[in-house]
Amino acid sequence: MVQPIISPSILASDFANLGCQCKRVVETGDVDWLHLDVMDGHFVPNISFGPPVIESLRKQFPRDSDKPIVFDCHMMVSDPEEWIAEIAKAGGDSYTFHYEATKDPASVIAKIKKYGLKAAMGIKPGTPIDVVYPFVEDLDMVLVMTVEPGFGGQKFMPEMMPKVEALRAKYPHLDIEVDGGLGKDTIQPAADAGANVIVAGTSVFKAENPKEVTQLLKNTVEQSILAKSK
Ligand code: DX5
Ligand code: ZN
Repeated sequence: MVQPIISPSILASDFANLGCQCKRVVETGDVDWLHLDVMDGHFVPNISFGPPVIESLRKQFPRDSDKPIVFDCHMMVSDPEEWIAEIAKAGGDSYTFHYEATKDPASVIAKIKKYGLKAAMGIKPGTPIDVVYPFVEDLDMVLVMTVEPGFGGQKFMPEMMPKVEALRAKYPHLDIEVDGGLGKDTIQPAADAGANVIVAGTSVFKAENPKEVTQLLKNTVEQSILAKSK
């Protein structure tokens, strides 16, 4: 059975206080991953941060702590094969590249694994789900974007849910991540469609009470997983 995973996107944090901001959401107890949105200003029309910031953040969340936090690196970059070594060195755990950013997904996946990272492939809203099928057996996770990548705080696209449903129907044990516009008003359709890894930036980092949000997101996904397993 897949597990419910909440992966808050630090893009919605106050970068000048990144460490404290992340600790505040991790302290909810519902957060096992942090979602790190790396943007190169080329694959997407925005620039965020890169390996040096990830390396600093890793010092705040050491791997040998009681509760190691998974660094879920979402690479919105052209030439995804170029950054694998750097991300591994900086302390990334999982490397999500975009199908649209490469002509040779299989070799990107092989290189990610060679560097000891978990391999994930993401698709933009305009990309059909069937492009991922030939690669799923070699992937640890598939990311279905629910907004156009590049910016936080956008509106969730419910019309992406048939892609999640189709993927879940074929792969009951796969980690399926959704990213963009997830919060208390949009979690139900995502959970019902079969997503189990929930990226949430604005809804978690900007919340007055992050625990209220993370708990609701996690419980909704958990209930949905349990209901399907009956
Ligand atoms: C968008 C990023 C998302 C974004 C999500 O390009 O990939 O991870 O930070 O932010 P919210 O949850 O605010 O839509
Ligand atoms: Zn993301």
